[in-house]
Amino acid sequence: MINDLWYKNAIIYCLSVGAYMDANGDGIGDFTGLMRRLDYLHGLGITAVWLMPFQISPHRDDGYDVSDYYGVDPRYGTIGDFVEFTHAAKQRGIRVLIDLVINHTSDQHPWFKEARHDPDSKYRDWYVWSKKKPANANTGMVFPGVQKSTWTYDEQARAWYFHRFYDFQPDLNTSHPEVQAEILKIMGFWIQLGVSGFRMDAVPFIISTKGADVREPEEQYDMLRMFREFLQWRQGDCIALAEANVLPETDLEYFGDDGDRMHMMFNFQVNQNLFYALAAADTRPLVKALKATKPRPATAQWGMFLRNHDELDLGRLTEEQRQTVFAAFGPDPAMQLYDRGIRRRLAPMFDGDQRRLELAYSLLFTLPATPVIRYGDEIGMSDNLKLPERDCARTPMQWSNEPQGGFTKSDKPYIPVISGGPYGYEHVNAAIQRRHPESLLNWTERIIRMRKEVPEIGWGDFTVIPTRDPSVLVMRYDWRNNWVLFVHNLDAKPHEVNFSVGLDGDNAEHGKLLINLLAEDHSHAGEDGKHRLVIEAFGYRWYRVGGLDYLLRRTEVDEPLHPKMG
Ligand code: NOJ
Repeated sequence: MINDLWYKNAIIYCLSVGAYMDANGDGIGDFTGLMRRLDYLHGLGITAVWLMPFQISPHRDDGYDVSDYYGVDPRYGTIGDFVEFTHAAKQRGIRVLIDLVINHTSDQHPWFKEARHDPDSKYRDWYVWSKKKPANANTGMVFPGVQKSTWTYDEQARAWYFHRFYDFQPDLNTSHPEVQAEILKIMGFWIQLGVSGFRMDAVPFIISTKGADVREPEEQYDMLRMFREFLQWRQGDCIALAEANVLPETDLEYFGDDGDRMHMMFNFQVNQNLFYALAAADTRPLVKALKATKPRPATAQWGMFLRNHDELDLGRLTEEQRQTVFAAFGPDPAMQLYDRGIRRRLAPMFDGDQRRLELAYSLLFTLPATPVIRYGDEIGMSDNLKLPERDCARTPMQWSNEPQGGFTKSDKPYIPVISGGPYGYEHVNAAIQRRHPESLLNWTERIIRMRKEVPEIGWGDFTVIPTRDPSVLVMRYDWRNNWVLFVHNLDAKPHEVNFSVGLDGDNAEHGKLLINLLAEDHSHAGEDGKHRLVIEAFGYRWYRVGGLDYLLRRTEVDEPLHPKMG
């Protein structure tokens, strides 16, 4: 395969325009402000940004309640500003992905307004109605504890409408051919304005059959192929990155056996088990999750993340595992959400301990996936638990120790900047960290640079190397006659591990030398061919196998050719 599928080895940075930088001084971030920060992002080394929803919206769910898909929220700027931004990003080699929220609209969308007041309107069928209250109206809520039901009575329509999420987000009838045509039109519109793809919100619900009489919803996976065909026809390198928190058994349905559906999916299975591994210093369930999610078409890629803009959803862990993660990272009920997750940001979960943050990031950058990092995590930003639900982790970016963290000239930012205390902008900000060589920001910049020089992770095949020590994860990647090996100690104490790199035949000799890519302590195997390593608490190692002449040894084609990995 020719290795120009950009998303297989990208570094994606996710941000919300409204929380990044406010150029016009009204207290809300905007595209002009974001554009002024493109050089920061370029310097950090990221290759793509994922923008959270910025379309016109009443903002009752941080923009995931769209009332016009073809416009920019005026608080963020204009379509003109957006195009200036995608152009400026492109000039710096940064691709732009945007959220595509089409499972539902806002109840303020003109389609829904018309649908509810006119039963003969064509838009009536664009939503999902029932004359009577469906028997299952009190099941299937995505935000349990906050959202009371999935069906709500509408006085005007004199009928119940279906909403998988909050009641102000009526579900679109996504099986309807006209709705599908409109979805493609929305994609086409933004592609034309310079985007390289979409983070597709709530994919399992988009493709699911909906209706009062639907007892067991079925997934219509063929819809995913239709989306992909359209994207790639309009623009060959345009991708879909699916938000689908599903079980590994169905992964291939989403990727498509022949790689003909979603290009990427977030790996929720690994994410949850990774947090368990970090909480318990036990990598066994993580290894299981890595192996379970290994099979995928060669052109498909996982998106790996630590935290995102939602809660850290632990719903797929066992009760005991979940309690272990709660106890370690979110013991106070105020830190938890929806009976299944933690709403804190990354840094406070690790008590701001840079060793542990580096370990977590080192894992993120070396697991088999494209890493997706969240704005502010590169400087160790915290949360504001006084804000409701998931808003706590959506505070403005902390740029400097100037008023409001340099985010705005207004003294009333829409969401307050974190101020005072150990994580306040006065101490935690990009400007200060830029000056310190050992800061998290500069560490992140260096690790991104190194990650880009290790394409084996995105392209290659991985093996978990047994160590008999569940606290330590050793993984090797093979690609084009090159190998890299990573060691992570998830425990708060040092461990000694013995392992052999596991290469045989002509390559066995290479396996005797491990060159450390981040420090000077290289490893030579003993007489028995095994490496003996003492790795400090929360330590990590990035090794090249066999020496630094690897590029002289790299082959130009994959050998043997793996049509499907795993
Ligand atoms: C998933 C998004 O990540 C979340 O923030 C949003 O509330 C729901 N989808 C509804 O769009």
